[in-house]
Amino acid sequence: MRQYLLCLLLALTIAPAFTRTRHFAKDSYLSSDEVQSFETDDDDDVTPTLSRDTFVLDDYRKLTTDPAAERLRGQALVDYVNARQDLWTARLSDKFESYSEGAKWGLMGVNNVANSIKARKHESATRFLDINLPKNFDSRTNWPQCDSIKQIRDQSSCGSCWAFGAVEAMSDRICIASEGKIQATLSADDLLSCCRACGFGCDGGEPLAAWRYWVKDGIVTGSNYTLKQGCKPYPFPNCEHHSNKTHFPACKHDLYPTPKCEKTCQDGYTKEYKSDKFYGKTAYSVHPSVEAIQKEVYTHGPVEVAFEVYEDFLNYDGGIYVHQGGKLGGGHAVKLIGWGEDAGIPYWIVANSWNTDWGEDGFFRILRGVDECGIESGVVGGVPKIDSYNFDNDDDDLF
Ligand SMILES: *[C@@H]1O[C@H](CO)[C@@H](O)[C@H](O)[C@H]1NC(C)=O
Ligand SMILES: *[C@@H]1O[C@H](CO)[C@@H](O)[C@H](O)[C@H]1NC(C)=O
Repeated sequence: MRQYLLCLLLALTIAPAFTRTRHFAKDSYLSSDEVQSFETDDDDDVTPTLSRDTFVLDDYRKLTTDPAAERLRGQALVDYVNARQDLWTARLSDKFESYSEGAKWGLMGVNNVANSIKARKHESATRFLDINLPKNFDSRTNWPQCDSIKQIRDQSSCGSCWAFGAVEAMSDRICIASEGKIQATLSADDLLSCCRACGFGCDGGEPLAAWRYWVKDGIVTGSNYTLKQGCKPYPFPNCEHHSNKTHFPACKHDLYPTPKCEKTCQDGYTKEYKSDKFYGKTAYSVHPSVEAIQKEVYTHGPVEVAFEVYEDFLNYDGGIYVHQGGKLGGGHAVKLIGWGEDAGIPYWIVANSWNTDWGEDGFFRILRGVDECGIESGVVGGVPKIDSYNFDNDDDDLF
């Protein structure tokens, strides 16, 4: 039954225009002997190494990933990534080595990273604005009054990235549009469990459908598991995602089942479920170009983006991510908050939902301008409906 529905969903949202040069076959991994010989062979290989000092975007565009590198994993992959380039560093987290493929990739949760043809019919108009875009832009410093932009959440052992990227950006946008007067933390649980059109809950969903749900049905507030604040806090605790740190227990092997849709607030919360809802005015996709994405973020704040996650991304430990090797795991949704340049290398600044122990305190940077892993072709957002809220409402419990 589920399989059928999933296929239907795939058929509806598939984007034929989306192809990548770095195409990965789903082969089995190399044995350690093969890895050994591959690494030795590589010494005479002409494939250029990427260096911070000599990096040229147009040259990178023409590169394809070595097919043998697709099959690397574990320490061999980490060593390969670190030896080949110095834009980012990889680090192995021992505790995830034992994970089954299903457990490792179940967290991805987006089927098609590029927006469909249909979605592209409703593109944000901010791309037509005449804006003199700055070289560097970070939503955290541009809207310092909005706490949600600085926060990193944790999806736990649930493929709910699509819901997190959405509620994170919606919360930011409510704050930005209200000029800091409304600091709401929208509930990932409410969206995850109640939006049927979004897909499959903890087994994956579609970002644009999440934004449409916000417009049509609204989303209540809710904090993380630890704080237990708002109408519907997240039901799952933080856990370590591919990180070697030990603050939290490692994410469990099996994904949690999708929580039941409860149209009530937690006990003790002062508001009714319905009156706690925040609504969007519009939901749209963003034209897949660097400038259109920049104008959208500059005007309305963070956006939700989807991209392809390969095994090397799991080992990201800082820097500007460019895909090097490892197999394709699945689509992942996150929140893009700004951009910059480091020694002439352009990047996007992105918030992941694997808590602050992963990456650069929960954030990561990824190459900008080459649609790296599809990050520039699956951008969605929307504008909050805030005129119906009373800004002077002294309800400081707005969570
Ligand atoms: C990960 O942590 C373990 C135990 O704390 C340590 O032995 C190991 O060296 C760490 N690995 C890396 C790559 O830092
Ligand atoms: C829960 O959320 C609060 C507020 O965003 C944050 O300060 C806290 O660190 C979070 N707790 C965990 C365990 O992530």
